[in-house]
Amino acid sequence: MEIFKTKASLQTHLQKARSAGKKIALIPTMGALHEGHLSLLEYAKPISDLRVCSIFVNPTQFNDPKDLEKYPRPIENDINLLESVGCDVLFLPSVEEMYPDKNEHWHIDLGELDQIWEGEKRPGHFQGVTQVVYKLFTLVQPHIACFGQKDFQQVMVIKRMIEIKDLPIELAICPIIRDKDGLALSSRNMRLSDDGKTKALALSRSLRYVKDHIHDQVDLKEIKNDALKLLTATAGITVEYFAICESSSLKEVNQIDFDKQHVVLVTAWVEGVRLIDNMIIT
Ligand code: PAF
Repeated sequence: MEIFKTKASLQTHLQKARSAGKKIALIPTMGALHEGHLSLLEYAKPISDLRVCSIFVNPTQFNDPKDLEKYPRPIENDINLLESVGCDVLFLPSVEEMYPDKNEHWHIDLGELDQIWEGEKRPGHFQGVTQVVYKLFTLVQPHIACFGQKDFQQVMVIKRMIEIKDLPIELAICPIIRDKDGLALSSRNMRLSDDGKTKALALSRSLRYVKDHIHDQVDLKEIKNDALKLLTATAGITVEYFAICESSSLKEVNQIDFDKQHVVLVTAWVEGVRLIDNMIIT
């Protein structure tokens, strides 16, 4: 695996690959890699010729400077993991390399998409995400960009940005990786005790309940209430939001339009850890 720390060296390398007709896949990450990230690299393998992973803890998407400071940076381990899955290129820039102008201003009008759900809890977060992802897209000019469905709203935000900026990039939405019991993999799970992990299974159970009970003449309110009951019946879970939404706008719906895709979103706290999960239902 080749490692580049500057934009110029990365671009020179990618230019050669592009001229040789190679199909480039980009997998943007903030490091602290786990199986979920590695599955994005596996996903990209059969559909590209050159896999570029970026590791950059992007300061502009953090609301709280303490979170940014505390963010894990196990870079040696990350490099070993990337090598174990045969990643071709790692881009590992510094903050100065990505943001040479400290006063750089970025805004993209995403309508309500970056204001609701995660956007409401973390104001400015998706502007920061789009800012850095747009920089990476411009730099790498990938044919395909891989993102995990786990952060569903993030994926919809990136999809909208690709449309707005009219970028010739195929967005690959890679399935959520769950453990054998159904818990969606996340680096945050490390902070849960065994008991906490068992409690956290209620999230995927409640999502599955909606998926299994949805059909043509369904009363969504009833299903949502039953799913919520299932979730809150587990002691030690505090639900932040649980919503059945149309996928691309993420607007909550009272009725399913079977011509459109829908998703159930959930965010809940277990043992002081904020967990998010989702399931596509139609
Ligand atoms: O999902 C993440 O790890 C980050 O939000 C991303 C897409 C790498 C942008 O910093």
